[in-house]
Amino acid sequence: MESLKCALQWFEDRTGLVRAILPIMRHPVPPGSAWFYVFGSATLFAFMIQVVTGVTLAFIYVPSSSEAYESLQYITHDATLGNVLRGMHNWGASAMILLVGIHMIRVYLMAAYKYPREMNWLTGVVLLALTIVMGFTGQIMRWDQTAIWSAVVAAEQAGRVPFIGDFIARFILGGETLGGATLSRIFAYHVFVIPGLLFIFIGFHLYLIIQHGISEPPKAGDPVDPKTYREKYETMIKREGVPFWPDAMWRDMIFGFTVIVAILLIAIIFGPPALDSPPDPANLDALPAPDWYFIFYFSVLALIPRGLEQYIMVGGPLLAGLILILLPFFSNRGERSPLRRPWAFAIVVLALMSIGALWMIGIKSPWSPHFEAKPLTAKIIGASSGPIFKGGQHFNDHACLYCHKISGHGGIRGPDLTYIGDRLSDDELTWRIMNGGLNMPGFGGTFTNEQLADLVAFLKTRRHKNSN
Ligand code: HEC
Repeated sequence: MESLKCALQWFEDRTGLVRAILPIMRHPVPPGSAWFYVFGSATLFAFMIQVVTGVTLAFIYVPSSSEAYESLQYITHDATLGNVLRGMHNWGASAMILLVGIHMIRVYLMAAYKYPREMNWLTGVVLLALTIVMGFTGQIMRWDQTAIWSAVVAAEQAGRVPFIGDFIARFILGGETLGGATLSRIFAYHVFVIPGLLFIFIGFHLYLIIQHGISEPPKAGDPVDPKTYREKYETMIKREGVPFWPDAMWRDMIFGFTVIVAILLIAIIFGPPALDSPPDPANLDALPAPDWYFIFYFSVLALIPRGLEQYIMVGGPLLAGLILILLPFFSNRGERSPLRRPWAFAIVVLALMSIGALWMIGIKSPWSPHFEAKPLTAKIIGASSGPIFKGGQHFNDHACLYCHKISGHGGIRGPDLTYIGDRLSDDELTWRIMNGGLNMPGFGGTFTNEQLADLVAFLKTRRHKNSN
C-alpha cells in the first residue's frame, strides 16, 4: 500500500498530470447547464467508438481492390465478433453525424457562437466537414457495388465542375479510372489523414471551450456586448459557478454511455449493412444507394434540371459552407435567447423540413444515379437511321456508354470518346473494341462484322466540328 502510494506520488511528481487535469475538471461552469448541453460530448463518445472499432477493423481489412471485399466478408461472417464490430462502426458513424447535427442546431438556437466563441463555431464547422468526409470515404471502403459506384458518381459529379473538375475527379479516383489506386487513396484518407485532422481540431475545439468557458444558458433581454461580455461572464462564474466535475459532467457521462450502449445494442440487433454483390462495373443492374445521410443530397442532384446540375452540385455545399463560416462574423453580438430570435427557429425548421422531404424522396424512389446514363439520342448520334445510327445504338446497348462519355452522356471509367474520331483510325478503333484494354473488356466475340463496322463508323464521326 505504502509503495503504491509512493509510486503514484513519484508519477505525479514527474508528470504533473493530476496537477494539470484537476483544475480543468473542477473549473467552474455556469449553473443550470441542462441536458441541452450533452450533445457535443456525446459526439466525442461516438467518435471514440469509431476510433476503437476502426482500429480493430483495420487489423483485418485489406485495402486492396482485389481483396477488400473478401476481407470484409471474412470480418462479417468468420472473425470473432467481427459482425458486431462492423455494425458498431457503421451505426457509430450514423450516430456521430446525427449527434454533430443536433449539437450544431443547439449551438445555433442558443447563439452560443456569439462573442467570444466565434472560433469555437468555426472549428466546429471544420469538424462537421471532416465528419462528413469520413462517412463518405468509409462507405467507399466497403468496396462493394454501391461503394465503388459512389466513388464513380462522386468523381463523375466532380468532373463537371468548371475548370478544376478534372483535377478533383482524379483526386478522388487516384487516377483516370477507378481501380486499386482509388482504394489505397481512400484508405489513406479514411485511416490517417482525416482522423489526424479530426484529432487536431477536436483538441482545438475542446481547448477553446475551456479557454472561453461553457456558454451560459441564454436569457431573453440580456444581449451579448463584446465590450462587457467577458467581465460579466467572470463575475457570474465567480458568484454562481459550479464545478464542471461532477455538477455538469454527470449528465455528459450518462448520456455518453447511453449512446455507447445504444450503438452496441443496435449493432447486435441489426448488424452491419449487408455487403451487396462484389464490385463489377459491367453490372448494369446495380442500384446503388448511398448511406442515409447522403441520400438527400443525391435526391437534390437527381431532381434538379440537368443544365443546373454543375452549379448546384458544387455551389450548394459551397454556399452552405460559406453561410456557416460567415455566420459568427455577421452576428456575433446581441440577443442570444431563441425567444428573441424567432427566425432562428424558422431557419432550423425550414432546413430540417427540406432535408426530410428530400430524404423521403430519395428513400422511396430507388435513387437512380447519373451513371445510369441516358442513352445517346439521335441528335447526339447525328443520324436517325443508317449505319451511323445503328453504330450509336450499339454504343448504347453494349455497355460502352457505361464506361465512356460522349458529349456529356455516359460513365467515366474509360476515356471520354467525344472526339475519338480525331484520335484513332478505323483500324485502331476496331482493334481496341475487339481486344479491349487494361480496364476494358474485349468485344471480339460480341459483335458481327457488320455491327462492328457500324460502331466504328459511328465513332469516326466523333470529331471536332472544324476537322474533317
Ligand atoms: C468496363 C468499362 C468499359 C466498357 C464496357 C467499354 N470500355 Fe472502352 N475503354 C475502357 C477503358 C478503361 C479504356 C482505357 C484503356 C485501357 O484501360 O486499356 C477504354 C478505351 C477505349 C478506347 C480507346 C480510347 C482512347 O482514347 O485511346 C475506345 C475507342 C473504346 N474504349 C471504345 C469502347 C467501345 C466502342 C465500347 C463498347 C463496345 C467500350 N469501349 C466498352 C473501358 C470500357
